[in-house]
Amino acid sequence: MAVERVGALENTGLVVGLDMLEMEPVAGAEILLANIHETESVERLRHLLNGSADVVLSDMAAPTTGHASTDHLRTVALCELALDFALLVLAPGGTFVAKVFKGGAEGGLLGELKRNFTSVRHAKPEASRAESAETYVVAMGYKGHLPDPEAD
Ligand SMILES: C[S@@+](CC[C@H](N)C(=O)[O-])C[C@H]1O[C@@H](n2cnc3c(N)ncnc32)[C@H](O)[C@@H]1O
Repeated sequence: MAVERVGALENTGLVVGLDMLEMEPVAGAEILLANIHETESVERLRHLLNGSADVVLSDMAAPTTGHASTDHLRTVALCELALDFALLVLAPGGTFVAKVFKGGAEGGLLGELKRNFTSVRHAKPEASRAESAETYVVAMGYKGHLPDPEAD
């Protein structure tokens, strides 16, 4: 668990998170009841973090509708929001891990990851059922804030 890895209970590290649904408390972690689609939620999470992060983890998944491509698009949207947050708060060298479905991170998302991290791969943890379409994208070595290509 993240709280054990960073020593959150010993105050050697900090774990903050959010979920839009009420969840069981996690000792050592501060979890907001908030929707990542709302700018205010992101600001509240940044405020809790109060600095930069070494790792941003997301296992957010949209409630399923039964319509595969809708579910896929919604989960990609959550992954993109998690990545936006990661690009705001990660320290250079930091890591971003997020749940993705189907063939993994694709298209624009994959390009954005490759632009911002030195290594991008997919991983399926043992805890994930083999028949499940879920997998995780693991991006390591955050390059830091890149110059805006639109800027002069
Ligand atoms: C696979 S569950 C993981 C739950 C939890 N991390 C756990 O391990 O028990 C996916 C979670 O994503 C959350 N989620 C979906 N859309 C969200 C959103 N827009 N903002 C915040 N959380 C969201 C759901 O509420 C759900 O709890």
